[in-house]
Amino acid sequence: MNLPDRVKIVEVGPRDGLQNEKQPISVDTRVKLIDLLSDSGLQVIEAGSFVSPKWVPQMAASEEVLAGIQRKPGVIYSALTPNMLGYERAREAKADEVAVFGAASESFTRKNINCSIEESLERFRPLAEQARKDGIPVRGYVSCVLGCPYEGDIRADKVAEVSAALLEMGCYEISLGDTIGVGTPEKAKRMIETVARRIPLEKLAVHFHDTYGQALANLYAALQVGVSVIDSAVAGLGGCPYARGASGNVASEDVLYMLDGLGIHTGVDLGKLAVAGNFISQALGRENGSKVARAISGECGKVEGD
Ligand code: HMG
Ligand code: MG
Repeated sequence: MNLPDRVKIVEVGPRDGLQNEKQPISVDTRVKLIDLLSDSGLQVIEAGSFVSPKWVPQMAASEEVLAGIQRKPGVIYSALTPNMLGYERAREAKADEVAVFGAASESFTRKNINCSIEESLERFRPLAEQARKDGIPVRGYVSCVLGCPYEGDIRADKVAEVSAALLEMGCYEISLGDTIGVGTPEKAKRMIETVARRIPLEKLAVHFHDTYGQALANLYAALQVGVSVIDSAVAGLGGCPYARGASGNVASEDVLYMLDGLGIHTGVDLGKLAVAGNFISQALGRENGSKVARAISGECGKVEGD
């Protein structure tokens, strides 16, 4: 089987995970979560989001979060930036990397960032140019790659077109988001193959939400095609405030357990990752959304005689 030897996990829990929470989350809790995550060996952590606090109140004070964390050498602390104002806030807060986020659906783009796809790309271009001058790498997200909450099916060549525009403006990596978690493995594979005709595979990441329980299967399909960067959220936190019904990202612990089982190297320690997931689940007052974390924490109960 043609699987990568090594996978980079991009931990998006502190951003994608927490942005959709109804209850307030303190800066201290966000900081502690990030520090526990960096302790697990993760190399990339999306620490916050410099969007409008009126649109996404949970990501307000991302400056304070970045100022409060203990930066571990070698770890990249990144942040979402929808426009120049967001970029300037991220640079001031010393984000190591920023991410612009577009979509392959006109309606979703309008709901999420209040403009058309074309306008979003126009908005991202000066940001990418400034980041290049500042030496700050830019990642590009494409949402709704396997379906849209407003438009239904999305054509893979539209995903490829938006991805190519992001690559062309200087994004070093393109993360393909199944925002509402509706994809299935063969469809995911075909979409990635279509995008890979325009973007080198090593520049592609996959970002799957687990609404329909398909995320791990879709990830396995993506690995088989040759993708080696996976976005996930500890404890399966997450959702998108502009995609109703979308559940959390695939849980990082579940992804890691699968990768460990496949003999794929990540540099992440499962036990330490589970500590971070249990911490945030407790802080939010809910059960850990990762099946693996629940199993290794003994919550699933032991078979008698074991
Ligand atoms: P807008 O209202 O069209 O923007 O929003 P505007 O430029 O007209 O500004 C309106 C107000 O917002 C002004 O303030 C600006 O200063 C302020 P006012 O004059 O009213 O006091 N503002 C800002 N404040 C702080 N930081 C900024 C900023 N920009 C403007 N950066 C905008 C446009 C893009 C700002 C808005 O739509 C927005 O913030 N959207 C964010 C939506 C979001 O965060 N969605 C979730 C992340 S995407 C996601 O989850 C998908 C992903 O995970 C992948 C996947 O799963 O597919 C990435
Ligand atoms: Mg997401």
